[in-house]
Amino acid sequence: METPAAAPTLNIPESAAAARPLRWGILATGRIAGVFATGLKSARSGRLVAVGSRSVDSAKRFAAEHRIKPGNTHGSYESLLADPEVDAVYISTPHPQHAEWVAKAAAAGKHILCEKPLGLNHPEGVVMFAAARRAGVVLMEAFMYRFHPQIAKIVSLINEGALGTVGLVQATFSFRTDYQAESRLWSNAAGGGGILDVGCYAVSMSRLVAGAAAGRPFLDPVEVTGAGVLHPESGVDVYAAGTLKFGNGVIAQVATGVGLTQENVVRIYGTGGWLLVPSPWIKNREGGALSLFLHRAGAAAPEEIVIEAGPLYALEADAFARAVRAGVKEVPEMSADDTLGNLAALDRWRAAIGLRYESEKDARNVS
Ligand SMILES: NC(=O)c1ccc[n+]([C@@H]2O[C@H](COP(=O)([O-])OP(=O)(O)OC[C@H]3O[C@@H](n4cnc5c(N)ncnc54)[C@H](OP(=O)(O)O)[C@@H]3O)[C@@H](O)[C@H]2O)c1
Repeated sequence: METPAAAPTLNIPESAAAARPLRWGILATGRIAGVFATGLKSARSGRLVAVGSRSVDSAKRFAAEHRIKPGNTHGSYESLLADPEVDAVYISTPHPQHAEWVAKAAAAGKHILCEKPLGLNHPEGVVMFAAARRAGVVLMEAFMYRFHPQIAKIVSLINEGALGTVGLVQATFSFRTDYQAESRLWSNAAGGGGILDVGCYAVSMSRLVAGAAAGRPFLDPVEVTGAGVLHPESGVDVYAAGTLKFGNGVIAQVATGVGLTQENVVRIYGTGGWLLVPSPWIKNREGGALSLFLHRAGAAAPEEIVIEAGPLYALEADAFARAVRAGVKEVPEMSADDTLGNLAALDRWRAAIGLRYESEKDARNVS
């Protein structure tokens, strides 16, 4: 039997990274860009110095809000990437633009934190990591939930055998919005639908849990099946469910949607009990306490495990900066193989429900 691995992390002092703060530039000024910029203010080892937008007005508005100097306020992404004061970029365009801007940022020698999903599909992800490797820069998919300390706690509970042998995981991330043809959540051209927008979290968590049960950072499923409802106009998934079977016997039930409210929790069932994760995707992203509930088999009541954390996006940015300053090419909490395995599983889930984006039909790049 393998020695169980703890949640991977880089064991370098925060002070080493804080000594030379990473200078961040934000590429695209949409909704999550503002959230990340606010989170960065609490980071110990990085600071926001620049922004780039397709529109000068948008760049100026964002710069004023986040105190970015006029000299680092760029009316194009190209100009941001040419800014010598920027060490790392955070890419927060819609999913279909990730691949192009990761490639260009890597060519410009910038380290890259790119929003999830890293690409539209596994083939795009392979090309993106190859570009980062060629350029010698760090590339990480921004799965911020991995940096909350509850993840290390969940992994250690599984490693310690608190749940016995893990059998089943249920992971859901879903919400309801009304159909809007132009919204990136509903548009085929924008890679809309639940699976890519938030179903990716449910798959990521399931692979993490199956991996922890095998003493590994993650596992990839050997079988993926699913069912989904596609929008009659845009063809993206309104809601979908999937089943992932792993080689160690763990089965995951995943569910998602952009048109259906569901209970966004994770439950992990083992022979010795089960764990409820009420806030797997972190409702209080500005930091604070949240709880896990461990139901040990035969116990009258669950144990509440309270976990304190700092602001989520600062935790993510600090882990990224540690990797850059340590001179490693991967952030251990979110490795390239982990991202690529997730993209491959998402491709299979989409294939199971018959969802192929129009751009993929042209490119013939999804199996
Ligand atoms: N980690 C998280 O917590 C989290 C949360 C939400 C979203 N996300 C991810 O972040 C990405 C962006 O999501 P969002 O909700 O911030 O989207 P959004 O509000 O629509 O913003 C996207 C931005 O991308 C830029 N852009 C570049 N090309 C574009 C195009 N062809 N169409 C529209 N916008 C374009 C625009 O910025 P400029 O006009 O400045 O160029 C736009 O404001 C998605 O991949 C999503 O999955 C992550």
